[in-house]
Amino acid sequence: MPVPAIIFPADPLNPRRPDPHFAWEARMLRESGGDHHLVDHDGLLAGRAEEAVRRVPRDSGPLWYRGWMLPSARYADFAAALAARGGNLLTSAHGYATAHELPGWYDVFEGATPASAWIPSDGPVVPGPAELAQAVARLGGQGPAIVKDYVKSRKHEWHEACYVPELADLAAVGRVVERFVELQGEFLAGGVVLRRYEEFERAGVPAEGPVMAPDTEPVMGGADGADAVDGDGRAVEARVWWLDGRPVLVGPHPDAPRRAVEPDLTHVPALVRRLGCRFVTTDLASRADGSGWRVVEVGDGQVSDLPRGIDASGLLAALIAA
Ligand SMILES: Nc1ncnc2c1ncn2[C@@H]1O[C@H](COP(=O)(O)OP(=O)(O)O)[C@@H](O)[C@H]1O
Ligand SMILES: [Mg+2]
Repeated sequence: MPVPAIIFPADPLNPRRPDPHFAWEARMLRESGGDHHLVDHDGLLAGRAEEAVRRVPRDSGPLWYRGWMLPSARYADFAAALAARGGNLLTSAHGYATAHELPGWYDVFEGATPASAWIPSDGPVVPGPAELAQAVARLGGQGPAIVKDYVKSRKHEWHEACYVPELADLAAVGRVVERFVELQGEFLAGGVVLRRYEEFERAGVPAEGPVMAPDTEPVMGGADGADAVDGDGRAVEARVWWLDGRPVLVGPHPDAPRRAVEPDLTHVPALVRRLGCRFVTTDLASRADGSGWRVVEVGDGQVSDLPRGIDASGLLAALIAA
């Protein structure tokens, strides 16, 4: 049986080499005995999939992708362009959208992840007050929440475009959502999502501390050096990499790559298997009151960022053995 190869984005400045962000992964793959091919990421984004895959050899058989996020429609073009030259992306276009977009995975993870409601949109359109009020009502109508789209938040603009202190204040919800849509612009993926805010354990902040941005800059020179470097106020997350329902790598989240995390995975494998996608990630955070681990988000494993320098040889070996 042919062994899967992995496609990485090419370096825009040197199309014969992997993009510098993925070069160490490509090197680790080679050391694990695997092969890689290159794709022109900008070409994929611009809708020129056939041209973008021209460096992938014909009849290359089974393929994984490890690269930058792609909108689901562009991933579908990518899969089709590879199929037309005898390549088979092992995550189908449907599987990609299922793991990549919150409405694709939410039903399976409901109860294990913060309650969520979404408003589909066609491009960067601010939902009207009635639509927002309905979404707020679906979340119980009160309490804090966060705003994101089907794929990403603007956690770096926490107070302006992410965190909603009180859902009952519909005008304030509208302001945060409007700013979020404005900042996402043409990159808004799918629509607006509202999620009930849950208090997670945060780096360097006592459990009862104030609500702060997850990426608030660290206060240098604090007593706890490791936490100070990782950033105060950020939920401590573990990123778990799943292949065919098995956790092949449990590591830190790329936002705090040096943190040791030991998530409780008891309930997660059954959910991942129910999702039915071969290669996914789950980001897990521990509730501040110690009542257990929650799934913050699910992602397609092909486009989840791998903390630089982590030992990913087991993950890469599993991918090329899959
Ligand atoms: N429902 C929630 N309750 C509390 N904090 C949250 C919630 N959702 C997200 N966060 C915080 O915001 C950050 C960004 O949210 P996330 O859904 O992971 O979006 P992104 O795709 O931008 O990483 C998370 O890492 C976490 O710290
Ligand atoms: Mg995240």
